[in-house]
Amino acid sequence: MATRSILRSARLQCTRHISSSSVRCHDIVKLTSASADEMSHFNALASSWWDVNGPQRILHKMNFLRMDYINEMVKGHIKLNDNVVDDEDKVYIPPYSLDLLPKSIRTRIQQEQSARRDEILSQKKLKALDVGCGGGILAESLARLKYISSVKGIDLSTDVLEAAKLHQKLDPELSEKLQYELTAIEDLPKDEKYDLVTCFEMLEHVQYPAQVLSEVFDRVAVGGWVVLSTINRDPISWFTTIFMGEHLLRIVPVGTHTLEKYIDQQEIRNWVEGSPYQDQFAVVNARGCAYIPAYGWKFTSSADVGNYFMAIQRVK
Ligand SMILES: C[S@@+](CC[C@H](N)C(=O)[O-])C[C@H]1O[C@@H](n2cnc3c(N)ncnc32)[C@H](O)[C@@H]1O
Repeated sequence: MATRSILRSARLQCTRHISSSSVRCHDIVKLTSASADEMSHFNALASSWWDVNGPQRILHKMNFLRMDYINEMVKGHIKLNDNVVDDEDKVYIPPYSLDLLPKSIRTRIQQEQSARRDEILSQKKLKALDVGCGGGILAESLARLKYISSVKGIDLSTDVLEAAKLHQKLDPELSEKLQYELTAIEDLPKDEKYDLVTCFEMLEHVQYPAQVLSEVFDRVAVGGWVVLSTINRDPISWFTTIFMGEHLLRIVPVGTHTLEKYIDQQEIRNWVEGSPYQDQFAVVNARGCAYIPAYGWKFTSSADVGNYFMAIQRVK
């Protein structure tokens, strides 16, 4: 028990050193870097990144669920009636739980609120940053959203970023909105603020996740979001992602994951609450998810087991 809790807190501390022995000369080694082994692993996967039936198919399939999640968080937390002067223009917000209302009335109120949120969202122009963007599966989808004005995808793997840039060229509409940069998060200027910073399937590959999160938080605009995904460090995660995913079903390349690098969702919550960011950032939501062969990704009932998504908002 004691060992486990030491492990838990250790995952979010900056205690390990980075070996650079097998990093290619043009890959970048920084405090927030993944290890040399991790980077060679991703470099080798670059050419097949956009093969939807290839080694990264699990990320392609995850894209549906994560896009829904990002949209739900950003849209669902838009404040209604902000700056609306005329009462006629206000959307009705009952001063009690909607669950207390008959279903037909509740549904109508929810539809009205949703329509108003869509209207407000359509006028927004959010700046997004995708950290550890890989070949750009998520970055491209974000850039196609009407309410996103620009997306910057950053990664430390040269080959993977080349694959991202090549694929981007297939859709000329992306040329203005989407940019890729071979850069570490800490090398982006701190006054470059983003309304949405995504960090999917990346924290479980880095040496110092707390350092990455701090650098991410420093670049979020007030009211902005950090949306991430990673994996709880538990036996079920080992069974599903390593034993089944890598070795038995071979849906993920062998060697992709290391159990010790997984991070419990509660560790991130504890870290945020104990960090210098505690007054500015709030963990708004965490939701478990699982890959079900022949179906795809599905939300689960617990964020404490297996894979999860998390949404953190900068409140001030
Ligand atoms: C599993 S892939 C996920 C790619 C993408 N986020 C997605 O979900 O489609 C992990 C990516 O993170 C990148 N990565 C790992 N550590 C990184 C770091 N410290 N900074 C930036 N990128 C990193 C890897 O090069 C790789 O492209």
